[in-house]
Amino acid sequence: MAMLEVNNLKTHFRTQDGVVKAVDGVSFSLEAGETLGIVGESGSGKSVTALSIMQLNPKPPAEYPEGEIIFDGQDLLKTSDKRMQAIRGNDIAMIFQDPMTSLNPVFTVGNQIREAIRIHQNLSKSEAQEKTVQVLRDVGIANPERRAKEYPHQFSGGMRQRAMIAMGLSCNPKVLIADEPTTALDVTIQAQILELMVDLQEKYGTAIIMITHDLGVVSQLADKVMVMYAGRAVEQATTDEVFYDPLMPYSWSLLRSLPRLDTAGEVRLLPIEGTPPSLIFLPKGCNFSPRCPFVKDECHEIDPALEEKKPGHAAACILSVEEIEKNKHRVDEELGVET
Ligand SMILES: Nc1ncnc2c1ncn2[C@@H]1O[C@H](COP(=O)(O)OP(=O)(O)OP(=O)(O)O)[C@@H](O)[C@H]1O
Ligand code: SF4
Ligand SMILES: [Mg+2]
Repeated sequence: MAMLEVNNLKTHFRTQDGVVKAVDGVSFSLEAGETLGIVGESGSGKSVTALSIMQLNPKPPAEYPEGEIIFDGQDLLKTSDKRMQAIRGNDIAMIFQDPMTSLNPVFTVGNQIREAIRIHQNLSKSEAQEKTVQVLRDVGIANPERRAKEYPHQFSGGMRQRAMIAMGLSCNPKVLIADEPTTALDVTIQAQILELMVDLQEKYGTAIIMITHDLGVVSQLADKVMVMYAGRAVEQATTDEVFYDPLMPYSWSLLRSLPRLDTAGEVRLLPIEGTPPSLIFLPKGCNFSPRCPFVKDECHEIDPALEEKKPGHAAACILSVEEIEKNKHRVDEELGVET
């Protein structure tokens, strides 16, 4: 049975300007020990998806008109606040994009981690203190005994991020959601943190949702990938499938807009022109049509559903696999990419 199952999740925000369809029909499931990577441009709904699982979108304006999030046999969209509080941090932990939102400025960092450990793990104060120092050391904070006594504002941005990661990891959650966990960190620490997450996963069978702009991180860590565009999943498959044979023009464009990891020489990059659509007024037809390099007339009329193009590989595009492959090949030739 899946550890976490998200079915047709819709998270909308009712605002003065209209209803923001931040997440509009997203589905995925996650087994114990599995890692799902969520990628997509800024504003595509990645964090809102994560915050929906945690039930941390402010209500109002957030509404969940449809869908379910099944964890441990219960629908988190229908779970009481009290029960949700017990699940958060204990069964499902999240490392937030902005560390300041989850560290309380009036308590020392050590105090906060220790309390999180104590609440969830039934340890004595001194055992929890020992573990606090240990997790701070694990995430690469020098002098953890002293640092534990400091307040969040005394930490640099990168250190706050690490403290928060320490807090997320300290409770051995069943599901760990990491939202851009390492962006503020330098490369060495980033590698250490990712390694730590993998260790935790191997030891405890943690299911991980990794949200990041860093496709390198995704290709290294994730078993499968969900590409989001304008609040929807536009491609879902194993990591290898998405990286080596993307079947949605947006995912393909995303990969072509970044330096390739596998080519040593100069390869021309193909930036994605334009910006994502407003989530209140979506374009007619395919949401990606105003920017799609493979667009054809029908794309302005038909809104393609996410459908299986190959076994286990779903994409939202009206083109056939053959047409997509042909288009990719054509543009690659123009760019001088060897395929
Ligand atoms: N509380 C809110 N009220 C209204 N709109 C919101 C709220 N929270 C998020 N949104 C909107 O939902 C959309 C998706 O936001 P989200 O934070 O999920 O993007 P993201 O994919 O995480 O982007 P980034 O890569 O920049 O972190 C955005 O248009 C955002 O403005
Ligand atoms: S449906 Fe058309 S516009 Fe949308 S991704 Fe496919 S080719 Fe591009
Ligand atoms: Mg985000």
